Formats: sequence, C-alpha cells, structure tokens
Amino acid sequence: MTSAVAEVSLAGPLSGVGVDVVSIGRVSARLARAKFSAEEVERFRGRRELPFAAREAVLKAVGGPGILRAPLRDMVVEWSAGALRLRPGPAYREVMRREGVASVRLAVLAVSPAHVVVTALAARDGPPSRVRVAYATEPVPSAADDLDDDERAACLSRPDPRASAAARMAAHAAGRLLFAGATLRVRAPRDRAPEALGAPTPTWLSLAHERDLAIALLAHPTPGDRDPA
Ligand SMILES: CC(C)(COP(=O)(O)OP(=O)(O)OC[C@H]1O[C@@H](n2cnc3c(N)ncnc32)[C@H](O)[C@@H]1OP(=O)(O)O)[C@@H](O)C(=O)NCCC(=O)NCCS
Repeated sequence: MTSAVAEVSLAGPLSGVGVDVVSIGRVSARLARAKFSAEEVERFRGRRELPFAAREAVLKAVGGPGILRAPLRDMVVEWSAGALRLRPGPAYREVMRREGVASVRLAVLAVSPAHVVVTALAARDGPPSRVRVAYATEPVPSAADDLDDDERAACLSRPDPRASAAARMAAHAAGRLLFAGATLRVRAPRDRAPEALGAPTPTWLSLAHERDLAIALLAHPTPGDRDPA
C-alpha cells in the first residue's frame, strides 16, 4: 500500500474529483486512434495509457448524466512543461458548462512499468481555493476484512468484487490519512460517483481499479477556504 497527502491550489472552489489507474499495455494503437485526437495519437505514442487515464479521471471529476457519451476526441490532453493539461474543445466545454465546471487540474500520480495513475480536480467559477488531497493504493486482492454490510453488498454486485473491495480499503486508508485516523465508509450506487460517509467536512471521493491494483482519491477544501455550495 502507498499513500500520501498534499495541499493543492485550484483556480476556483472544488467541484469534483476523479482518479484512474490503467495497466500498461491496455490501450492499443487502434483504441487510441478511436478515442484520441490525431495530435495525441502522435504525442503519446510511447505511453498511450496517459491520455486514456486522464480522460477517465476527468469524466469522473466533471460527472454528469452523459459520462458514457462524452465527446472523447474533444477532451484533448496535452503534455506541457512537465505536466498534463486538459484542453477541452467546444463539445466538452459545453459538457463542463452544463456541469458547472470552469477548469480541471490534472496530475500524474504514478507511472510505473505496470500502471499509470492520473488524478483530476474539477473547479467551478469562483475565488481560487486550496484543497487537501489524499490518495491510497491497495493491491488486489487485499485483506478486505473491514468492509461494512453496504460496502460488501456493493462489491458483490460489481464485475470484479475483489478489485472493488480493494478500492474501498484504499478509501478507508486515505480517510485515515486525511482525517487523523477516522474511518470513512463508501457509498457507491452503480454508475454514479461514490460518496464518503463519516467525514467531518464535505469530502469528495473517487475510486478506480484494475485487476491487480486499486486506488482511492479523497479531497476536501482546506479549512478556512470557502466550503462547497
Ligand atoms: C465511470 C467510468 C469512468 C468507469 O470506468 P471503468 O474503467 O469501468 O472503471 P474504473 O476502475 O476506472 O472505476 C470504477 C469506479 O468508478 C466509480 N464510478 C462509477 N460510475 C461513476 C460515475 N458516473 N462517476 C464517477 N465515478 C464513477 C465507481 O466507484 C467504480 O468503482 P466500483 O464499481 O467498485 O464502485 C465510466 O465512464 C466508463 O465506463 N468509462 C469507459 C468509457 C470510455 O470509453 N472511456 C475511454 C476513455 S479514453
């Protein structure tokens, strides 16, 4: 398990978080041509998983009912000055506008021979803010012996219950890190953004899992900054 906590500046108040883990080799050249803009196919030839993970993290952070119908080619991911950046075209800018999202901040959390992990923090219009962010990873399978009944039932309803369970264990670990030992619970209706129960302040949660690794990302506004609407 790895975990870390950090404080991050955003252009506006936090409105959503997303994380994705993608196994190296999962994104074929054909899939990249189908989902990415032509410039990304060229730019990310050596690491096609990066723009893929970035899109999935953005989809989760921005949200909305059309998450599966998002204009993927219009969600252009750039690599500039050592960082990933989202350059949304008109169709995705319209999705963001409908969801009340003014900007998205991307970060590459990890690139290993096995995986890439990308996070996205969405912000709405408003004064710049600071957020505390924690992530934790968990191997799959993990000793998922600390799930409550709702968490267990949700995992059993998913295609890969062991990976879903590891993601919830990762969320518990991130919660302990962010809130000095507090145990959060995960509530995740199918195909909807998961929620963290039991956090002392409004907190956003995102989960992702592959067959062998799960990750959870938690974030809340830094005390003193404006709380989310
Ligand atoms: C939400 C989505 C990103 C899930 O992706 P996935 O690869 O199936 O799974 P991941 O491991 O990344 O994430 C799974 C977690 O996402 C969370 N999730 C599900 N729906 C979500 C939503 N609408 N918003 C935010 N999070 C969501 C769940 O907590 C889920 O974990 P759980 O099932 O254990 O509760 C979905 O948009 C999807 O299936 N995307 C694929 C569409 C596509 O074409 N992507 C290509 C990008 S180039």
